Order: sequence, then C-alpha cells, then structure tokens
Amino acid sequence: MNKSELFKSISNDLKNRLHLLEDKPEETIETTLKALWFTAAGFPVSAEGARKLSIPDLTDKQIKNLHQLIEIRLNNTPLAHITKRQNFMGIELLSDKRALIPRKETELLGRKALELSNRIVKSRGKINVIDVCCGSGNLGVAIAHYNTNCHVFATDISQEAVELTQDNINLLNLNQRVQVKQGDLLSVFETDEYYEKTDLIICNPPYILSSKVQKMDSEIASNEPVLAFDGGMLGIKIIQKLISEAPKYLTIDGWLIFEVGAGQGSFIAQLCERSQLYQQIESVSDDSGNTRVILAQKAKPVYSQS
Ligand SMILES: C[S@@+](CC[C@H](N)C(=O)[O-])C[C@H]1O[C@@H](n2cnc3c(N)ncnc32)[C@H](O)[C@@H]1O
Repeated sequence: MNKSELFKSISNDLKNRLHLLEDKPEETIETTLKALWFTAAGFPVSAEGARKLSIPDLTDKQIKNLHQLIEIRLNNTPLAHITKRQNFMGIELLSDKRALIPRKETELLGRKALELSNRIVKSRGKINVIDVCCGSGNLGVAIAHYNTNCHVFATDISQEAVELTQDNINLLNLNQRVQVKQGDLLSVFETDEYYEKTDLIICNPPYILSSKVQKMDSEIASNEPVLAFDGGMLGIKIIQKLISEAPKYLTIDGWLIFEVGAGQGSFIAQLCERSQLYQQIESVSDDSGNTRVILAQKAKPVYSQS
C-alpha cells in the first residue's frame, strides 16, 4: 500500500472511531492523522501545524509506531499530549500534562492583547506585561514573540505549569524578555518594585463552575489539570479577585484584559464598572456573538481638592 492509500484507509477507520471535541476545532480526522503521522516519523507537530504539510513516506517501523499512536489517541489521550505540541497564534509550542492545552478560542484574547500592546507601545515605547494564570505560557510568549517592545512577567499557582512555561520560553529563545514565577494570582508582584509598573495585565483564568468541572468530557477531565478550569461555586472566584487586585500593579491608564466564559460577559463587565476601579470597559465577542474578552482601563486617581 502506498502512503496515500494508507492515509485514506486509516482516515476511513477513524471516521467511525475518533471522538472530536468542540473546543479543539483545529483537530479534524485529517489534521489528527497528519500530526500523528509526522510524530511517528520523528517530527512531532501539532494538528494546526500539520494542516498544510505534505506527509512523508514512512518506514515499516514508523508505520507500526503510527498505529500505536493512533490507538493511544483512540484511548482518550489528547492529541497534544501525544505530539507534545500545540499551535497558538501561529507558534508551535510545547504542550503536555503539566498545563492546560491552549485553546483556539483563547486566540481571541491573544490577538486583542497583542493589538492593545502595540497601541500602548506607540505612546510609551517599551512596556511591561503580566501574564497571570499563564498555564503553558502561551499568551505571554506569543505577545513577547510578536511584540519585541514587551517585557513579560508570567505567573501561575501551579509549579508544573511554571516549568512548562519555562520550557516554552527556552524554546522560543525569549529568556531576555520573559520571566516566570510560581504564585497565587498576583502575589509574586507584591513589592514596591512592581506596584503601578505594569502597562498591561493579561489573564485567561479558570471560570467554569465547580459543579460543571466534573461533568466535562472525560478526555479533558482525566487529562488536563482541574486547577485550569475550576472557578469556584459561581465560576468567577478568580475573576473577582483579579478585577480588584490588578489596579495596584497597573500604571496610570494601564489595561487589564481577560477571557470570560460564554454567558458571563455582561455580568463581569458590570462587576468592573461597579468596582469604580476602571474608567473604560470594553467587551469583545466571538463569531457566535458571545462576549469572550473584557478590556478594562485603570481609572485615573481622584485627587482631593483643597
Ligand atoms: C484556563 S487556564 C489558562 C492557561 C493558559 N493561560 C492558557 O490560556 O491556555 C488557567 C490557569 O490558571 C491557573 N490558576 C488557577 N488558580 C490560580 C491562582 N489562584 N493563581 C494563579 N494561577 C492560577 C491554573 O493553574 C491554570 O494554569
């Protein structure tokens, strides 16, 4: 059987057996098989990264390896944990059990944050950015990669996530402009050195209701860290804390930008407004019309008049 016949025959088999997830739209039968094919050949690549590549010939040993990888995938192991790769905003990153697999939907936050960083750079030159709840470091490293005027401080409560972020910083050679530290929300910045020094805080927080976390698809629930999803009883525990604590670290006119769950947008925009800590609040919707990103600019200080 030549490689096209083999590809077709495996694709047909996968049509009946592969369970695809809504929140990983880049994973189709074709891109999954291509990513596994390249991984079996010794060149691991993500589904997105494999999309436009032509598959190479495989040796008999590599074909055997491919069949084994397919069985692992069919046994509910996420594709990104087999290839150890996930593409985010066009960048091939390392991905594994240590942190959430970056989702395509988070690219909306990534693109808006990048736009905002470019806007701020125009008026201020070099800027400081915090990526809090950094997971694999996808948002922070993407911003630093595309905007060379940004210095990024990344942080996550999970030591394993911090280690994966460090691996991605090393992979992209960003050690000079991206640092990562472990801590609860913004606690690692709790010193004068960081107060009012950050131009932009980016966050993709956990925002799923605790009661829904256990009901997530088993592929996700049994392979990705629960810490990445659990936003407490109402799903907004971390977001509430972020809204109240971010201004302490933001420069005058600095921005907070974060992702919210579908359906949470208007309530969370109201929380920002009611806090009176922000002067301008904007919402960004996805293609289905759901608010998925909130931008909030720190309010100007009110000085007492004598
Ligand atoms: C939804 S994931 C986002 C990961 C990554 N930024 C992304 O976009 O794929 C949320 C992350 O928040 C982290 N996290 C949860 N609670 C936290 C806290 N109190 N302080 C800091 N990080 C926290 C989790 O470990 C997880 O890595």
